[in-house]
Amino acid sequence: MRHLLNILDLSTDELDELIKTALDIKANPLKYQDMCAHKTLATLFFEPSTRTRLSFESAMISLGGSVIGFSSANSSSAAKGESVADTATVVSGYIDIIAMRHPKEGAAYVASKHSKVPLINAGDGGHFHPTQTLADLCTIYSDKGRLDNLTIGICGDLKYGRTVHSLIGAMVRYKNIKFVLISPKELALPDFVKKNILDEKGIEYIETTSLEDSIPSLDILYMTRIQKERFLDADEYERLKDSYVLTEEKMQLAKEDMYVLHPLPRVNEISVKVDSDRRASYFRQTEYGKYMRMALILKLLKEKDSAKAEDRESYPTDKKCKNEHCILTTEQELEHLCYRDEKGIVRCLYCDSEL
Ligand code: CP
Repeated sequence: MRHLLNILDLSTDELDELIKTALDIKANPLKYQDMCAHKTLATLFFEPSTRTRLSFESAMISLGGSVIGFSSANSSSAAKGESVADTATVVSGYIDIIAMRHPKEGAAYVASKHSKVPLINAGDGGHFHPTQTLADLCTIYSDKGRLDNLTIGICGDLKYGRTVHSLIGAMVRYKNIKFVLISPKELALPDFVKKNILDEKGIEYIETTSLEDSIPSLDILYMTRIQKERFLDADEYERLKDSYVLTEEKMQLAKEDMYVLHPLPRVNEISVKVDSDRRASYFRQTEYGKYMRMALILKLLKEKDSAKAEDRESYPTDKKCKNEHCILTTEQELEHLCYRDEKGIVRCLYCDSEL
């Protein structure tokens, strides 16, 4: 069974193939309108969403399929204490494919272990959001005509920004990619991305707190929201929430072909006055998200019975995962498992935090 938990589950060739299919769907929607007839998608959203859930549902309907699901933990039996594992076991008996969002990191991995059908991670806490990355890649490709030779600025919450972690994981596979990581020190990129992906692959990057100083050098600016729901300390959120605002004035410092992406929703980090700038790609990005999800549903259903990639080698541990956002904090029955990364650091199997 093939699932999509992390963007790294897809090879570069597969990413390119998905983009090609998505652009063909956009150009020839009628060709695809019955391809999922008699198939059903379940959207299991334990956390709020507008774009991801509705674009998945719209994608399945546009492929001729049906959709069932829930849009909050409170409207499912999670509110009565049912585990993610049991939910996945039960629901996967009803449908053909699952898209699941959950606030805890590693929740999609746990669900995939119990699902009898392909499971797509639609966001697990601050960990990964691979289908947002599919939308991002398709947008960058459409705007720039390439996915290599780019300087990409990523601005805002790089610590909890799951879209950021997935985007970096995907972009480092292309040639001559440089990153400018723009964040307050408190929201800097976590080590599991910095050390395991950027350092490991020898990717060039700089870390800075200044958007103004960085913007002239960028080909792509990926803005993100400071995410209130990820902070355990409300005072820290209040202190950091207005760290960056992209304005018309700052856009004047940028190249004529520097495109602005944002996974959305935005709060105030991009002025609405920037929306009419032709370089503002963030609403186009939401449309590409639907086409990429259509391409992904088709691919996973087609490859339903193909072998899944081998799990990384893991073993039981007495060490407690200290990540308060890890799925281990709420799924009491889960075995505490860890793995050793390429540098020999022992990490939680579910959320990748160092133990
Ligand atoms: N980008 C994104 O994940 O948006 P939603 O939270 O609205 O799904």
